[in-house]
Order: sequence, then structure tokens, then C-alpha cells
Amino acid sequence: MTKNTLFLLSLCLTFQTSLSVAENAAVPPAANGIELPKHYKNWRLIGVSHREDNNSLRAILGNPVAIAAARSGNTNPWPDGTILAKLVWPDSRHPLWDEATVPRELKHAEFMIKDSVKYARTSGWGFARWLGKGQKPYGSDASFSAECHSCHSKASDYDYVFTRPVPLP
Ligand code: HEC
Repeated sequence: MTKNTLFLLSLCLTFQTSLSVAENAAVPPAANGIELPKHYKNWRLIGVSHREDNNSLRAILGNPVAIAAARSGNTNPWPDGTILAKLVWPDSRHPLWDEATVPRELKHAEFMIKDSVKYARTSGWGFARWLGKGQKPYGSDASFSAECHSCHSKASDYDYVFTRPVPLP
């Protein structure tokens, strides 16, 4: 390798590092200190849902730990290291096919992070939500987690998770 190639290579690496730092710095953490999980847009599908009361479509995605648990049926309890993401979009009509419901702009992205020690007070789950395309953290103080935890208690027999992984062959 010539000196020039080495120089170019180090320049690329520096550029890449500063890019990923900038990407994280742009989104503030939730009021309870939870950071927006990296790479969640590349996670795989666990479930889908449609809410008729507020007309929205949802995709539930999982990090690699969650996907391994979902595919092997090991979800009660979900293992530590699991992260579940729920992405919510208001309903819209497909412009070419009126009967098809498709998503509009992202309404919010929310997450449940499993760490049975760190989040013991909320049954082993850390909760966080970011609003809209601008990814503004939801909640003015950390007490918002109690709201999430309380409603998710309805699913306490299923480790506080409502979603059942989609049936696959
Ligand atoms: C009033 C009830 C309610 C509240 C409050 C609530 N959730 Fe949920 N959540 C649900 C229901 C019902 C589902 C499953 C249906 C769906 O897909 O929307 C769900 C699904 C989820 C999922 C996908 C995993 C699962 O349990 O199915 C995540 C992640 C999630 N919620 C995060 C949050 C976070 C973070 C908060 C607080 C900022 C929150 N939720 C507050 C009712 C609630």
C-alpha cells in the first residue's frame, strides 16, 4: 500500500466515524435516558397490526436477539437483550387501488428493551418513544414509562408483550 492510499483510507474512516456520531447526536435520548436504538430500520418483522379506533397501521420489528427468540418460540419470557420496535403510520388509501390500506408518514417509533436487572421496576422492560419524522422524544419527564408499563400490564401473562409473532411456515 502506498502512503497516498493509506492517507485516503484513514480519511474515509474518519469521515465514516463522524457520520455515525452525527447520526446519533441528532436524536436526543428519551426523558428516562434511553437512547434511540441504532439500526432499528434494518430489523426484521415480528408482527403487524391495524388499529381501527385511530386508523393506523403498525409493524413490530425485533433486533437479532428478539428474532431468534420469536422464531424458536422462546418468548415467555423474552430473553434479556431483546429489543422490540413498533412503528406506527396513519392509514391511507393506495392511490391506484382504493381498497388497499397503506401507510402515510411515520407517526411514532417506540421500543421495549428487555433487561431484567436494569429495568426490574417496570417488570424487566425499558420503554421509550420518539415522535414523527423529526424523532422528538415523547414525555416531558421519566414518569412516562409508568404509563407504558401500566397499560402493558394487561399482557402480564405474556411477559408484558401484546404482539404474537406472525405465523410462518
Ligand atoms: C393504553 C395502552 C397502551 C399504552 C399506554 C402503551 N401501549 Fe404499547 N401497546 C399497546 C397495545 C394494545 C399493543 C399491541 C397492539 C399494537 O400493535 O398496537 C402495544 C404494542 C407495543 C409494542 C410492541 C410489542 C408489544 O407489546 O406488542 C411496543 C414496543 C410498545 N407497545 C411500546 C410502548 C411504549 C414505549 C409506550 C409508552 C411510551 C407504550 N407502548 C404505551 C398498548 C399500549
